[in-house]
Parts: sequence; C-alpha cells; structure tokens
Amino acid sequence: MINDSIDYINTYTEGFSPEIGIILGSGLGEIADNYCEYAIPYSDIPHFVSSTISGHKGQLVFANIEGRPVVMMQGRNHYYEGYSMEEITYPIKVMRALGVKTIILTNAAGAINKSFQPGDLMVITDHINFMGNNPLIGPNDFRIGPRFPDMSEVYNKNLIKIVDAAARHLRIDIKHGVYIATTGPSYETPAEIKMARTMGADAAGMSTVPEAIVANYCGMNVIGISCITNFASGISTRKLTHEEVIETAEKVKENFIKLILLLLQNIK
Ligand code: HPA
Repeated sequence: MINDSIDYINTYTEGFSPEIGIILGSGLGEIADNYCEYAIPYSDIPHFVSSTISGHKGQLVFANIEGRPVVMMQGRNHYYEGYSMEEITYPIKVMRALGVKTIILTNAAGAINKSFQPGDLMVITDHINFMGNNPLIGPNDFRIGPRFPDMSEVYNKNLIKIVDAAARHLRIDIKHGVYIATTGPSYETPAEIKMARTMGADAAGMSTVPEAIVANYCGMNVIGISCITNFASGISTRKLTHEEVIETAEKVKENFIKLILLLLQNIK
C-alpha cells in the first residue's frame, strides 16, 4: 500500500524528498497556501482517506521552505469522522517512506491549565491517550517499527529546547504542557475536564495522539504544538463552539507561521 501511495506521489512531485513533515491543525493551514510547489488532494492518492470537515482542506503540499524540503498535510483526518485509527495515521507511514525524519504535529486545543489563555501556543511535552484505542493494534509490520514501542520520550527533549529558543527569539511566551486526546466529536463535560486536570493534563483535543504514536513507532522525531483556542469546558462559563476555535486559531496564525519558519531553520 505504501509503495502504491509513494509511486503516485512521486509521479507528481518528480521525486521530491521531504526531510520534515508538518500536520496543520484547525485554522493553521495557511502556511501551505503561502508555500506550495506541489499539492495533491488526499482523494487522489491511493489508500488515503479524505477530510470531511470545514477548516480542513485535505491535501498534501510539498515545498522548499527556508531551504528545507517539507511535506505538509493541509488538514488531517480525525477518528471522530468515522475513520479507523489505521486510516488516520496511514499518511505518517507514507511520510516516513518519503524520507521525513522530523514531524511537527499541530492542533487546536482547549485550555485545562488555568494559567493558559486562548491565543497561547503550547509545546506538547507529553500526552495522555484517552481515546480508548491505539493505531498500532493489529498485526505488526516489523519493517516499519517494533511490536512494543517505547513511549518514554515521544516529544524529543532537544527539539522542545529548539522550540523554546525560537519562541524566545520571536518574543512568544510559549507554554509547556501535557495534551490529552479524547475521541470527540462532542466537547468534554466540566466533570471530564476536572478529571483530566487531576490526571495531569494541561490541554484537551481530539487529534495528534494517534499520529504521535505512529510517528514515534516509525522512528521519527516528534514536535507537538497546540494552539490554545478556548478555555476547556467548565474552565469558563462560556459555551464552546467550533467557530470560536477557528476564530482564535485565525488570530494566532501569524505567530504560529513565524514560529514554524524559524523552527525549519533551526531543526537539525
Ligand atoms: N476540547 C477538545 N478539543 C478541542 C477543544 C476543546 O476544548 N478546543 C479545540 N479542540
């Protein structure tokens, strides 16, 4: 399957070999509009599934950015759309086969940590998989990764330092925190967020964890960045809407893009 996907992609990109992969979360896809050499809709790529929600475009975009060959997923597929864990993480395996060594996973997330504000960026230091599933369940293909992958440092500590240094340079007060993933699509209840805080989570979302598990399994270096778009349920009395999430992501976009560009210069 991976060979089918790669063959199709290579005929369009003339063998473009990306070193860095970026998955662009809700409202953060604009960087792929600004830097685009080749774009291929997921629906055209053998074995890819395509995105069904607004705010997510659904194409693979290739470009040299800051002198680095990059592949971007402009829009990701989510478990709550009804796809399997394997389907939503399949593009990670394709990226690995294309040559990606470092992957930047981004998302929109709700603040559980009361010191966070909507509009903050948070570098993910660790995660809690609260999705009740795992993308590696099933027969293991040892050509891709081990049966029981170590998860003690999914989010590479050196890369976190590089993110911190880039943020400092840009005078962005970046937060650190633990990301908890639920399946969605409903937002959490206040009781669930209280539980998540007790468990040590700082931000809540509905993505990223499956991709991080598979990227770590494939031997990639992983960076996770959350755009804090709202206070999680019960942290503020306001009701949560997808529109609010997209609106805040829109405001943060400029800083987010600056940070990504500087990271591309500084990642080894
Ligand atoms: N909860 C879950 N997912 C989210 C949130 C949230 O508060 N904000 C953006 N994505």
